[in-house]
Amino acid sequence: MLVISEDNCIKCKKCESVCPVEGIDIDNKSVAKDCIKCYHCSAICPRKAIGDRHTTGHTSQNNIQPYDFELLMQQRRSHRIFSTQEVAPAILKEFVEHMRFSPTASNLQSLRFTVITNKNKLKEVNDLTIQTISKAYRSINWVTKPLIALLKGKAALKKMEQSKRKFMRKAESRNDMICYNAPALIVIHSENIPVGMPCHDAGIWTGMATLYAELLNLSSCINGYIVNAAQRNSKIKEVLHIPGNNEIYSTILIGYPKLKYENRVDRPIPKLRFIAE
Ligand SMILES: Cc1cc2nc3c(=O)[nH]c(=O)nc-3n(C[C@H](O)[C@H](O)[C@H](O)COP(=O)(O)O)c2cc1C
Repeated sequence: MLVISEDNCIKCKKCESVCPVEGIDIDNKSVAKDCIKCYHCSAICPRKAIGDRHTTGHTSQNNIQPYDFELLMQQRRSHRIFSTQEVAPAILKEFVEHMRFSPTASNLQSLRFTVITNKNKLKEVNDLTIQTISKAYRSINWVTKPLIALLKGKAALKKMEQSKRKFMRKAESRNDMICYNAPALIVIHSENIPVGMPCHDAGIWTGMATLYAELLNLSSCINGYIVNAAQRNSKIKEVLHIPGNNEIYSTILIGYPKLKYENRVDRPIPKLRFIAE
């Protein structure tokens, strides 16, 4: 519950100006019920006159230079070969806890995290995902192809067939093709809430987590196959003890790198448009 201290408040009203729900009225010393608890008011107040137990102190200025961040982004790569070294549960716990500053739509903070380090469970997720995706790909066959071409177009069907071929080929040669024998998997899920954007929250969390992992000398690989398989097969949530009313929005494999990517590889400049007039 936000409290406004009459003694400290100098009525500069910076808090009013930054409140995203326009919920603060300094003259009437009131905070609207639909406060989303983002604490922008506490973060901006020069006198610490508004806040609650979440107001902890000053932020310290980071000294990360833009170039450092660019390098970090270039250094991050998806790792699919992990060292056999385990990641301590305390490190994984701290990792998820430190990541709580990742933003969420309307500050809903609905994301939940399930961390799997049990080798048998990881294998079960790996195998179930392969089975589920293979089954889905097998449904692209001579019977369904004309319908897919009609509904989605010939180009889409061609791409789907390419993906099918790639997946099936890899599944035959690498039975660890989903979890890559990584020592840990973080599953990001949320209750399927009618408001908010948990899917995007999870994507943003995941992107930030891959960079944070890099700084901790951990390596990561985002895994979309598990997300896709979990949408098709409820058994995946069952084996992970994820409640039925939760949706899996993202997963990320975490471990220590076995290999180091030494070279910088460029990427095409993205297509960019300005609408200035
Ligand atoms: C949403 C998303 C889903 C992904 N799913 C998988 C996956 O299931 N398996 C995998 O090996 N890599 C997966 N990746 C990793 C991409 O293949 C990888 O990011 C891309 O090839 C670029 O390589 P880089 O991450 O090393 O820059 C995924 C990446 C993203 C962003």
